[in-house]
Amino acid sequence: MSANADLLASFKLEFLGKNKINTAAEDVNASVGFMDVTNNADYKIIEKIDDIYGRKGMNNPYFMSRSGHLSNKVICQERAFICYSGYNYLGLANDERVINAAKNSLDQYGTHAGAARMVGGEMEIHTELEKTLCDAFGFESCVTTVGGYMTNVATIGYLMGKHDLIIMDEYMHNSGVMGAVMADSRRIIFPHNDVDALEILLNENRGNYQKAMIVVEGAYSMDGDLADLPRLVELKNKHNCWLMVDEAHSLGVVGKSGRGLCEHWAVDAEQVDIVMGTLSKSFASCGGFLGGSEKMIRLLRFFAPGILLYSTALPPASAAAANEAVKIMLEESWRVESLQNNVRQFSQLARERGFDTGESGASAVVPVMLGDSMLALHLMSDLQQIGIIAHAVMYPVVPENEARLRFFITSEHTQKDFIYTLDSLKRILANTTSFSGV
Ligand SMILES: Cc1ncc(COP(=O)(O)O)c(C=O)c1O
Repeated sequence: MSANADLLASFKLEFLGKNKINTAAEDVNASVGFMDVTNNADYKIIEKIDDIYGRKGMNNPYFMSRSGHLSNKVICQERAFICYSGYNYLGLANDERVINAAKNSLDQYGTHAGAARMVGGEMEIHTELEKTLCDAFGFESCVTTVGGYMTNVATIGYLMGKHDLIIMDEYMHNSGVMGAVMADSRRIIFPHNDVDALEILLNENRGNYQKAMIVVEGAYSMDGDLADLPRLVELKNKHNCWLMVDEAHSLGVVGKSGRGLCEHWAVDAEQVDIVMGTLSKSFASCGGFLGGSEKMIRLLRFFAPGILLYSTALPPASAAAANEAVKIMLEESWRVESLQNNVRQFSQLARERGFDTGESGASAVVPVMLGDSMLALHLMSDLQQIGIIAHAVMYPVVPENEARLRFFITSEHTQKDFIYTLDSLKRILANTTSFSGV
């Protein structure tokens, strides 16, 4: 993609200096009746969803609880569904070895870490997991945390300050955005995956700030496309910036053996100053981690609030499950292969049926673009009625004309799942003449 001057100009207008985002929706009458949250614009969206589903005799589809394991199938409210709404990309969350590792660690350590790591919460399983992650992904050092979201907020919020520049992709996950807000730095957004535009913005702005950080996702969680790592490394070196890559959806998924973006692009892991990852997706657990140089990770360990400081450590069962999951991923390469084959197969079958899957195909996230939030919501409910769970992503999470159904593909899905799903979607869409005002 190349930089487009008009697009860039409109980005500058829209984003430069804009620092207040993602608070509860703005309401013109905010000062009148704000105590009653049903006046809140976001609350009205919840009610709209209740209404659409209620008319079909269904409950609001969000927060639907399941019983049992999450694989390509789930049981919710005593009914079986084909499920495209889980991050169990490699099927490891249900693996007996992973479950036993968690159980054994419960026996060994008890249920919790008991304290922040600096002051009594440090356990051997933390060190073991961090070593496993270093060995797997080529980090010099690594630290694990209790949550992926907080890992981004805390890292960016701590490292960057008000004399600094944070320059991030338009589609960066909310946790990165909120880290930048917390940092109180100058925040510039560049058009999605447009490294030429990034270069222009760096040329224009880098000189005015002390530290600078480029923040991107490895595989984008909405569109499933990949960041151009070699160009980003080139730019970060040229402009003396830190490069932080959120690999939540690329580790375990991208690269021949699931080692992520560096493996995919044949770039040395040391070239990325901070790799952020989650234990909550391919690695069958919960928590976040950071990979980087010995000194960078040491600094974050000691001083970044919310990484280890002021925060109780990762529970032992979560650490042990992730530790086992990463090892199995490396030993059983068929899992990553099967996931990647499934992504290719789903994308091809979708395109053959005339669906627009955007720029996806290289990661486990495959959107089917619909361009209308209400249509997405209706299709989601119709699919649910015939036993398929795929969630709608709507405005304001994405722009209205980019509303979509989002499919998370796993190594456990089958061709039969895909054909049934996509044929059903095509049939429902063909029969959907009007959905407005339902
Ligand atoms: C790109 C990205 N980064 C960070 C996170 C937060 O990770 P976690 O869910 O492990 O807190 C998510 C969550 O889905 C994500 O998609």
